[in-house]
Amino acid sequence: MHAERTRHFASDNYAGICPEAWTALTEANAGHEVSYGDDPWTQKAANLIREVFERDCEVFFVFNGTSANSLSLASLCQSYHSVLCHELAHVEVAECGAPEFFSNGAKVLLLAGANGKISTPEIERAVHKRTDIHYPKPRVLCLTQATEVGTVYSLDEVRSLAGIAQRLGLRVQMDGARFANAVASLQVAPADLTWRAGVDVLCFGMTKNGVAVGEAVVFFDRELAREFDYRCKQGGQLASKMRFLSAPWTGMLKDGAWLRHATRANAMAKRLEAGLRTFPRVKISYPVDSNAVFAKIPPAAEKQMHERGWKFYTGVVTPDESRLMCSWDTRPEDVDAFVADLRELTETQ
Ligand SMILES: Cc1ncc(COP(=O)(O)O)c(C=O)c1O
Repeated sequence: MHAERTRHFASDNYAGICPEAWTALTEANAGHEVSYGDDPWTQKAANLIREVFERDCEVFFVFNGTSANSLSLASLCQSYHSVLCHELAHVEVAECGAPEFFSNGAKVLLLAGANGKISTPEIERAVHKRTDIHYPKPRVLCLTQATEVGTVYSLDEVRSLAGIAQRLGLRVQMDGARFANAVASLQVAPADLTWRAGVDVLCFGMTKNGVAVGEAVVFFDRELAREFDYRCKQGGQLASKMRFLSAPWTGMLKDGAWLRHATRANAMAKRLEAGLRTFPRVKISYPVDSNAVFAKIPPAAEKQMHERGWKFYTGVVTPDESRLMCSWDTRPEDVDAFVADLRELTETQ
């Protein structure tokens, strides 16, 4: 029999609420506040985001990443437009057609590229493939940062992709469900990685980094945010008790907890990668730039790891590969116990 596990590698969504978010939530719970976002917590959280990005951006808090992506893409598109994204992009494979639904039919077009990143010539290929009236007009480039396979676009890569997009008349939307992990990995200014590089709208995620619920849609160009509040309301994304979405952000942003947690999660992924690289029969699939490790583990050992109580997914994001996610609360002993169990199993096979 093996001990009941308290922490897993299945998803960074499995982790609980971090202390900084929890404390802010408790403070926000004292007394009554104005509803629908006209409260001091939401004001403060939005101002902290403006400080982080060194820009007077427009900020909207919504319940989850799917709505952040779908509503922001819908706001950049007419129904006859198309959105270019990587073939593994969350907006394509994990949002149940919500971007198409909320945009009243804009089409998602898929681009190829190694390691979960869009390859530069793919953008021109998609835009120039057809220019006739019968083809959905390319309008937005969607970049996931960090990517679905845990890699991170470098600053130069973001600049280059966004530069091409601008030249071709496309807007740039960034799915930043793990933006914190990308910033922690690159150690660059958030402004450099977004608007200064040509990103128009960022879906800034915090759920995977320690808050309970709630992502921020950040428009760097205020004009693009026109009537976005109505879109949120119509889409069921205007929280009546908004302060409970926004207050945790104040706890995360006011003294850098968001980057500390992301840095720790990234470091745990590096530790896990180093452990897994000692197994000749385990293959690491992609560069480990953030908090995800993708690996090919011998199927018998993978099955027995599940029997030992470890939860992780195999073949969900990519075929045959196990995705091991580290979270803000993953500890070195969790990683070491996982590696030790795998060693025991592979040595007896
Ligand atoms: C890359 C990416 N974007 C967005 C999301 C947000 O999705 P959700 O609607 O589940 O919050 C996720 C969550 O897994 C994700 O991995």
